Amino acid sequence: SIAHTIRVVEVGPRDGLQNEASIVPVAARIALIRLLIDAGLKTVEAGSFVSPRWVPQMAGTDRVLAGLDPDGDVALPVLVPNLKGLEAARAAGAETVAVFAAATESFSRANLNADRATAMGRFAEVIAAAMAGGARVRGYVSCAVHCPYEGWVAPDAAADLAARLVELGCYEVSLCDTTGQGTPERAEAMISAALARVPAARLAVHFHDTGGRALDNTERAIEQGITTVDSAIAGLGGCPYSPGAAGNLATEKLVARLTALGFDTGIDLSALGRARDFIRRELGRTH
Ligand code: HMG
Ligand code: MG
Repeated sequence: SIAHTIRVVEVGPRDGLQNEASIVPVAARIALIRLLIDAGLKTVEAGSFVSPRWVPQMAGTDRVLAGLDPDGDVALPVLVPNLKGLEAARAAGAETVAVFAAATESFSRANLNADRATAMGRFAEVIAAAMAGGARVRGYVSCAVHCPYEGWVAPDAAADLAARLVELGCYEVSLCDTTGQGTPERAEAMISAALARVPAARLAVHFHDTGGRALDNTERAIEQGITTVDSAIAGLGGCPYSPGAAGNLATEKLVARLTALGFDTGIDLSALGRARDFIRRELGRTH
């Protein structure tokens, strides 16, 4: 049966801003996260503790966290690729961290400089250490539908990885269409495979909007029983080298659609509009 409440996980300050050509200053990242929390979002991904040589846009995430003092019901997850990132995240006060594994060998090498087995070995250590220290761990499965190097991905490859991340202790695993090439049919097949292995309450979906189908794919996932959806304010993201390329599913588009369909998200659309306008101004977007 279809749930009446959908939990929206805002990833714009991380997945969006990491892909913008311009580097947004820490103060503006803090202001954006505050506006998102004011709009009612309870989970806002605040940044990453990754190599600043790989992703300079996310440098200073420690100062972003230091500038925020959210209420107890708000979580601010941060990405960590390894134990070094976990240590830095914990030192900065992060209580929720996220690991990101890839369903394909090529993407694992491109994104983590490690093959899948090596990366999973590291993530097993990171998850165990995080949990031992009292932190919660979210998991991502990149290329759950399509890989930029290997093409379409077998649904079972994504499902197996999701199940493994849950076994290792992730409270939730987000199934990602990293390239945004997915169709509702492809998304449905992948989510069915995941649901055969992991309960819906521990799964989220994460669609990039390159093909313009992120909302359709998300609606299909919700029809299948998924109740947690990742999105990014203003549809932030895309490729810095491809002007106009779409980013993640836009939070305001998602919330407007969910509201029209009668779902409760707890998010105030006009307050969300203020967050969108703020970051668009910061990025100098006019269209
Ligand atoms: P590497 O070069 O193999 O790492 O990169 P290394 O261990 O050999 O270290 C190289 C240098 O990086 C050293 O510094 C380390 O200290 C430093 P040096 O001695 O050369 O000055 N280093 C770090 N610095 C800060 N924080 C750290 C850290 N670790 C090492 N945690 C590594 C391996 C994993 C570090 C690198 O590949 C990396 O940072 N990858 C992250 C890439 C990334 O952030 N991608 C985007 C996020 S994932 C995503 O967007 C997908 C998602 O949205 C889902 C979806 O849509 O698919 C989640
Ligand atoms: Mg993403």
